Amino acid sequence: MSIQIGDKLPNTELKVMGEAGPESITIEQLCAGKKVVLFAVPGAFTPGCSMTHLPGFVVLADQIKAKGVDSIICLSVNDAFVMDAWGKAQNAEEIIMLADGIAEFTQAIGLEKDLTGVQFGIRSQRYAMIVEDGVVQTLNIDEKGVDKSSAETILASL
Ligand code: BEZ
Repeated sequence: MSIQIGDKLPNTELKVMGEAGPESITIEQLCAGKKVVLFAVPGAFTPGCSMTHLPGFVVLADQIKAKGVDSIICLSVNDAFVMDAWGKAQNAEEIIMLADGIAEFTQAIGLEKDLTGVQFGIRSQRYAMIVEDGVVQTLNIDEKGVDKSSAETILASL
């Protein structure tokens, strides 16, 4: 069963790119005392994620933050080098590019997707959450396309 509204996110350790290389960061460090929008994609640099999902959040980041959101996080089951390169290619300076390299967080919240058929392995479903102090307030999952988890939909629900 996947995570539900009202549940606390598991305090998993993930990676972000630091000055000298990948650094560990926990969900608690990212979310404690904060209002956070976390969206997840099946893969960095893939068409739907690169042409629609991440760019939408880049364009609307200021408007989302103006609604009281402290941080916007983009998560994928990719390594921190890939997430960093993808963020730079997309001018995503306002977005924390978070690497769940071994899918530990993704599997802990039950939102993994087996893309072995296209040789991706275990990845994340496409979703967006609004999280307050680590607790899920909104959870929008897209089975196809970028709609419920889009930046536009999240902005409208803030
Ligand atoms: C995408 O375009 O978002 C995508 C393509 C292949 C696998 C997963 C995602």
